[in-house]
Amino acid sequence: METLNLIFLSAHNVIRWIVLILGIVLIVRSFLGWFKKWDYQERDKQLTSFFAGVFDMQILIGLILFVTKGWVGQLMNSAGEVMKTSFLRFFAVEHWILMIVAAALIHIGSAKIKKSSDSLNKYKNAAIWFTIAMILTLASIPWPGMAAGRPLLRFFGLVF
Ligand code: HEM
Repeated sequence: METLNLIFLSAHNVIRWIVLILGIVLIVRSFLGWFKKWDYQERDKQLTSFFAGVFDMQILIGLILFVTKGWVGQLMNSAGEVMKTSFLRFFAVEHWILMIVAAALIHIGSAKIKKSSDSLNKYKNAAIWFTIAMILTLASIPWPGMAAGRPLLRFFGLVF
């Protein structure tokens, strides 16, 4: 179980950077496309489905960690104490709820992009929905220095 946890935790840590890089690239391209009135490009369509897919995978790994690292048990056995203690509350409640909201915004945004009939509205929807989702994601990551802070990079034994 320990090795499996380390594999999932390392994957969850590293994929966070892939999510952030993809999100930033998409947001920059969406604002450029919106203000420079680009024709919506196939590359943006592919990048958007890749971004949503990687984000969903991160959610799945997070849910696995939530169970295997004992957060369900903590909540069931001592919910009162968890809610009073900020670094416990972060993982038990705040982290996953905000990340699921961010994932929902990414999917709503993707659907709105598909439904938009012209390039301007596609880029506009991408810029707005993905920016809000990324702000939420950035705010919900356990950055070092926070009470529930975790390393910037974890890859098995390698921890920064
Ligand atoms: C439903 C969604 C999610 C759930 C349930 C979840 C759950 C978890 C859990 C249980 C941990 C480990 C806490 C511990 O050490 O005991 C964790 C750590 C972490 N999560 Fe999530 N997570 C979710 C989504 C995300 C997303 C979308 C991101 C970033 C894009 C993210 C970034 C991180 C990071 C950076 C860590 C620290 C990893 C480390 O310690 O090396 N999580 N998450």
